[in-house]
Amino acid sequence: MSKQTFFSGVQPSGNLHIGNYFGAIKNWVDIQEEYNAICCVVNLHAITVPQNPEELNQKTIEVAKLYIAAGLDPAKVTIFRQSDIPQHTELMWLLNTITKTGELFKMTQFKDKSGIQNSEDNTKISIGAGLLNYPILMAADILLYDANLVPVGEDQTQHIEITRTLARRFNKKFSKEEDVFTIPNIYTSPAGKKIMALDNPLKKMSKSAEAVNSRIEILDEPEVIKKKIMKATTDSENKIYYSDKPEKAGLRNLLNIFSIITDATPEQIAENYQDKGYGDLKKDLAEAMVSYLQPIQDKFNSISDEEILNIFIQSKSTLLPQTQAKITQVKKVMGLE
Ligand code: TYM
Repeated sequence: MSKQTFFSGVQPSGNLHIGNYFGAIKNWVDIQEEYNAICCVVNLHAITVPQNPEELNQKTIEVAKLYIAAGLDPAKVTIFRQSDIPQHTELMWLLNTITKTGELFKMTQFKDKSGIQNSEDNTKISIGAGLLNYPILMAADILLYDANLVPVGEDQTQHIEITRTLARRFNKKFSKEEDVFTIPNIYTSPAGKKIMALDNPLKKMSKSAEAVNSRIEILDEPEVIKKKIMKATTDSENKIYYSDKPEKAGLRNLLNIFSIITDATPEQIAENYQDKGYGDLKKDLAEAMVSYLQPIQDKFNSISDEEILNIFIQSKSTLLPQTQAKITQVKKVMGLE
């Protein structure tokens, strides 16, 4: 039986952090053998907000390096640059014509990034159309490859939902004997699906947050990692236990992170530290995190830009026949070819 396909991607905007790693990339690594794995660097999504062209180009290479450093095997997994495959934007236009604007305006990410919730603030009114149409491009990414599974963090749930809606709508409207698009499923990992910001555990860790102390970046120096963890917001109770209580959100986040890198449950870790203070827990977590990230950083530093550019060239020629065939199928049923 042929393998099912998973598709996922990361935007080359800002520095990747442990939320991106535990929420997404680590899961790709874990399932890469079982699936036909397609891992994209979504540079066309990144330009929905202003980017410096040279930095964008370099970050795109950096993200691909991190995929490999994290354990994706380029001999088995297709790692590519979104802008190399024109069928992503072509399919996006076609899907655009069956998407309702109301569906786009209600997306949480759009509201957050555009500041539209804050409609009295006139300074935030100039919003690029790309930001609004962002989920359609994401749907095109996934549907172009007939992906069965999309391993992502919890924040992407709404985007996968709209992808499913568009696929169903298209199938209903245009499919003849067999469905044109496969309906994809989301995959999120229980512990890593939502890593919270270190300085504010009620917000998710984010590449774009201004406070660098809010996130541990995958390429952070050991001393920086230690400082950030020691500074992480907890609570004044100074008692270690794993709980859903809102005031324990900071501690809970640290225990969750500790649990992912040690393979013990957060409850077990809490038990081990029940007679100790937050400082002890943070110190040990910081050390464990430094050792955990070290091999990824070493591997990252051993990969040249040229290696990545060669992978991009190779992937482009592997993917193009497949994506061209899919677009032909879509255009035929729409009466465009
Ligand atoms: P992006 O670049 O914002 O994030 C990349 C991945 O990291 C996950 N993630 C997190 N997971 C857990 N905790 C966090 N704090 C955290 N922050 C980010 C995200 O959920 C994501 O999986 N729209 C996507 C990129 C994209 C895509 C796609 C993904 C474009 N096309 C097609 C899958 C399939 C995004 O902005 O990811």
